[in-house]
Amino acid sequence: MNCNTQLQIGNNLFLHQNVLLAPLAGITDFPFRQTVRMCGGELTFTEMISANGLVYENQKTLAMLLPVKEEYPIGVQIFGSDPEIMSEAAVICQEYGATIIDINMGCPQKKVVKTGAGAALMLTPRVASKIVEEIAKKVSIPVSCKIRLGWDTKDINGALFAKMLEQAGASMVTVHGRTRSQMFSGRANWPLIKTVKENLSIPVIANGDVKTLEDAIKCLEESNADGVMIGRAAIGSPWIIGQVADGLHKGIHKAPDMSLILDIIDFHLEMIEQYYTKDVAPKICRKHLAWYTKGMRNSASFRNHLFTAKTMEEIRSLAKDYFQMVIKQ
Ligand SMILES: Cc1cc2nc3c(=O)[nH]c(=O)nc-3n(C[C@H](O)[C@H](O)[C@H](O)COP(=O)(O)O)c2cc1C
Repeated sequence: MNCNTQLQIGNNLFLHQNVLLAPLAGITDFPFRQTVRMCGGELTFTEMISANGLVYENQKTLAMLLPVKEEYPIGVQIFGSDPEIMSEAAVICQEYGATIIDINMGCPQKKVVKTGAGAALMLTPRVASKIVEEIAKKVSIPVSCKIRLGWDTKDINGALFAKMLEQAGASMVTVHGRTRSQMFSGRANWPLIKTVKENLSIPVIANGDVKTLEDAIKCLEESNADGVMIGRAAIGSPWIIGQVADGLHKGIHKAPDMSLILDIIDFHLEMIEQYYTKDVAPKICRKHLAWYTKGMRNSASFRNHLFTAKTMEEIRSLAKDYFQMVIKQ
């Protein structure tokens, strides 16, 4: 296993931890990222942001960058397929305070790949390299890329593809250990990530199916990667990033107890309430509370009630009653 738990990205960015929060559309918004940080996480990523939206000044898209100046370190992930637009978008992200520009080269969704973006870039390595080259020319912060192993099992080009990205100026590559055609099915292939790692001198981060400290250790052993990125396991458990990092770095493996979990949830709801408008905040809170309570006692009935609650006051009151019941039992 690669025992170096610190991470240097580019010339000037030094991280204490090699456990990263994955970009997750609809989930890794500012309140979620702050919650992950509050629980000891370090590098987080925004969800994917449209380069076109940024360059053509779509106000909703630009708003996604507003909180970035309050965050450090923060990777802003952009998607697109036009090197010119992508580099203009990267400049905007840097101006808004990004620490890293991450390029989405792994999104499998049809509506994204049909525009030549996301995982489709793995089919057009020259375009992908050009995107990295143009961005690296225009920004002074590190550029990273998030890729998959390849397009499908007949085309596992991750190692060569990543080498091209390194040569084009990428400072880090994250590899989701699946192909595009696998979408999210099957198991992530950690040993295959090793073929990418062997080919590069920049940090390689392994991603896919890391849910526990044991997974992280096994994934690092099998991939020899410099770090791991955790996505779905952080949904409803934002403490997992800090927890796995503590396990790897300090040998401490401690899951939060119920009272700490309640403090974390409280913090998260508070952040959501501050960040979103009165109309939107309840929707986001309901979604996260449903994830937080998954597997808890009587949670199905709590969630049924929750989804009828319209205001933050109602949601808080329902949550308070429910958690009191859980603590008592
Ligand atoms: C709901 C959801 C949203 C996602 N959004 C993004 C995204 O915006 N950008 C990206 O690069 N990957 C995205 N991914 C992929 C994850 O970052 C990650 O690569 C994948 O889930 C595998 O890691 P995991 O097993 O730790 O979840 C998303 C995945 C999920 C489940």
